[in-house]
Amino acid sequence: MIEFSDELDFENRIVDTTEIPEDSGENENPLRPKTLDDYIGQENVKENLRIFIDAAKQRGESLDHVLLYGPPGLGKTTLSGIIANELGVSVRITSGPAIEKPGDLASLLTNLNQGDVLFIDEIHRLSRAVEEILYPSMEDFAIDIITGKGQMATSYHLPLPKFTLVGATTRAGQLTAPLRDRFGVVLRLELYTTEELAQIVERSASILSIEIEHEGAVEIASRSRGTPRIANRFLKRVRDFAQVMSDGVITLETAKIALEKLGVDELGLDNNDRRMLEAIVKFYNGGPVGLETLAAAIGEEAVTIEDVYEPYLMQIGFLSRTPRGRCITAKACEHLKMDFPGADNSQPTLFNN
Ligand code: ADE
Repeated sequence: MIEFSDELDFENRIVDTTEIPEDSGENENPLRPKTLDDYIGQENVKENLRIFIDAAKQRGESLDHVLLYGPPGLGKTTLSGIIANELGVSVRITSGPAIEKPGDLASLLTNLNQGDVLFIDEIHRLSRAVEEILYPSMEDFAIDIITGKGQMATSYHLPLPKFTLVGATTRAGQLTAPLRDRFGVVLRLELYTTEELAQIVERSASILSIEIEHEGAVEIASRSRGTPRIANRFLKRVRDFAQVMSDGVITLETAKIALEKLGVDELGLDNNDRRMLEAIVKFYNGGPVGLETLAAAIGEEAVTIEDVYEPYLMQIGFLSRTPRGRCITAKACEHLKMDFPGADNSQPTLFNN
């Protein structure tokens, strides 16, 4: 018998957008589309990429460096694989924190082949020392390595193959200007619409041989916070319920019951979102409250609130960011069945003081 606790802990959110091994699969994630045609949504990004990829191929050159930014779980790693596949080259996947020393980057770069894609996730977390050798690598396709110290120091100029760097970040604003300026193509990924997510759920269900009714897919999609990674995770969990409840077929009813039991409401909010929104009302009279203050009040990291909670809550009009801090909206209070502190956090006007 499975018991569902009321309280979902912060480390274990089913709506968490961090990639876990189950998302990517043991080897290669079969749910990841391999071509631009298979990739659902992000029409603007796809349209641009298609042109830049075709143009680079026609000229027989490597693609210019690409920066992808936007909230986690929207498919930045998937897109880097697609870019490599469409160009007919290999992709090496790494991340900012994994490249500890300049030597780590030098070894990655010197092992690339002409035209290859190097994908660096969380590129805003590269150390200064590593960034320093990334600049000439991106610009001149060469690195200068110094060995030894003092009078024994020797410098080597090492040419590199012409590669394409695909950088991904949740926070473009945190990139240093010299790094940002070295990307020829900068693309912003947006949260997906419910219709796009429903298509993704149906595609994934077909790959995993899960029977799903369209209304069931729409229900999963509408609770997935605009994020394919969450939608695919829900699909796998709802399948478990469907197996026991409805002969393995995901219907509207099974999707609703399963997601309710997982603590996810009809808009995709879980206990942690509700706790944060309620804290703004109860402790800060609806806001404005500063990010750090709010983070301390609910025991969460400020970056997690910014990257994971806020994009969706702002998109659905539940939260607003003002220069003085975060404010809850009347719409959010209505959803939470709480009184909106309203008038108290409105901007002062000529007529109220
Ligand atoms: N799986 C995860 N993201 C996807 C996308 N954007 N299109 C198709 N399948 C996906």
